[in-house]
Amino acid sequence: MLEYGGTDTFLKLKTLKLVNKGFYRVSASYELFTAEENETLTRTGPGTPMGNLLRRYWLPAVRCDEIPDPGGDQIRLKLMGEDLIVFRASDGRVGILDQFCPHRRSNLFFARNEDCGLRCAYHGWKFDLGGNVVDIPSEFGFEQWEDKPSIKAYPAVEAGGIVWTYMGPLDKKPPPPEYEYCLVSDEHRFATRRWEECNWLQGLEGGIDPVHVPFLHKYELTSDPLHRGTTGADLTSATDIFYDSIDQPYGTNVIARREADDDSYYWRIGQWVLPCFTIAPPYGDFAMGSNAWVPRDDGSFWRWIISCHPTRPLSNTERSAMEEGKGTHVKLDSDLRALANRDNDYFIDREGQRAEKTFNGVYTVGLQDKAMQESQGEIHQRQLEYLVNSDKSIIMMRRRLLDAIAINERGEDPPGLTAEDQRIRAASLVETKDVPYEELSKDILRTREGVSVTSI
Ligand code: FES
Ligand SMILES: [Fe+2]
Repeated sequence: MLEYGGTDTFLKLKTLKLVNKGFYRVSASYELFTAEENETLTRTGPGTPMGNLLRRYWLPAVRCDEIPDPGGDQIRLKLMGEDLIVFRASDGRVGILDQFCPHRRSNLFFARNEDCGLRCAYHGWKFDLGGNVVDIPSEFGFEQWEDKPSIKAYPAVEAGGIVWTYMGPLDKKPPPPEYEYCLVSDEHRFATRRWEECNWLQGLEGGIDPVHVPFLHKYELTSDPLHRGTTGADLTSATDIFYDSIDQPYGTNVIARREADDDSYYWRIGQWVLPCFTIAPPYGDFAMGSNAWVPRDDGSFWRWIISCHPTRPLSNTERSAMEEGKGTHVKLDSDLRALANRDNDYFIDREGQRAEKTFNGVYTVGLQDKAMQESQGEIHQRQLEYLVNSDKSIIMMRRRLLDAIAINERGEDPPGLTAEDQRIRAASLVETKDVPYEELSKDILRTREGVSVTSI
């Protein structure tokens, strides 16, 4: 009988020492994450600590062009375990209500969108955008009732071609979002949302993980039409990388540094903004890719990708590539689920994997990420991980989220709520080795109107 391999996973170290190789920060020591912390970080329903934190921010709900017409069709939306209905009222305003009528709980997907409100199709109760029941036709004298029923309603704003909603306490509602893609005209931007089938946090972790790029996306660096042909894509294929992460008031700079030549470093600087927003380091003159990772429920999330070029309109070629599922976009069915998904193993091509055409057998950046993130399980069990130095950005992000939860539970404002926090950029550049990070990053990581993103 042949016997192979086998290890005892319980022999893993309980403490991870993050050795910082004399870079910008002192060494730090982190406990591995516990099952309890994992529960705290991943559960987002009403009343949960993470749910309470996420509900302090404006979150993207649907694209504006999904509800284009005043008085048009309403759509269903699940956010953080809550079933909602989104509609554009006859006067053009956007309403976001509980999906179920407070009378006998029929679904407002079948309601009539009429005269600045929704009218339930079962017995005709009507709701305005503020959640007030404004008409019960079967109840004579309803206007005189002292205690009128209401329906759950959330505020909405439109910015950057996106309908945003705020699901937290009204007295703590922050100003509307000002991420750079909210500040440019529609011609400069292309946005998609899709439904991914795992917990939101493993999606976000993939978004701030520079280590996987030269492995998982190795072949896309030279083939994807939204990456290839740039100096940055050529240099990104190197796997000898120095990683670091630096705390910022709004979140973290996620840094990957490679040798460009004997005298210079190639820097890729990504951004994480609390709680669930990232910006990937750009390539050449292509659009900067911003992301939002928003829980749908605890076993699925909405992956938003907003490609934005601050200083020029996107070309038809770029738009076509995005519509075709290139870059981090993917091709979707009418339910906003990827055509390549876990049920068909993402159309895995084993021959292509052996023939060095695709690293994990899946094609396109977005689907490669999706396959890896969903393969971690519906909710990734962080207490079973073996974290290493290059996971620093992920470790810091989780700690910041746990800190932000504590801040919020104390009744204080968590980071990431202000325009100052949100008007930031990612960057990629080559700089001589004698220029320290603080110097080279000083001006390039903030939104500057009319000034291009720093990108090679
Ligand atoms: S269930 Fe909606 S009006 Fe009766
Ligand atoms: Fe990726």
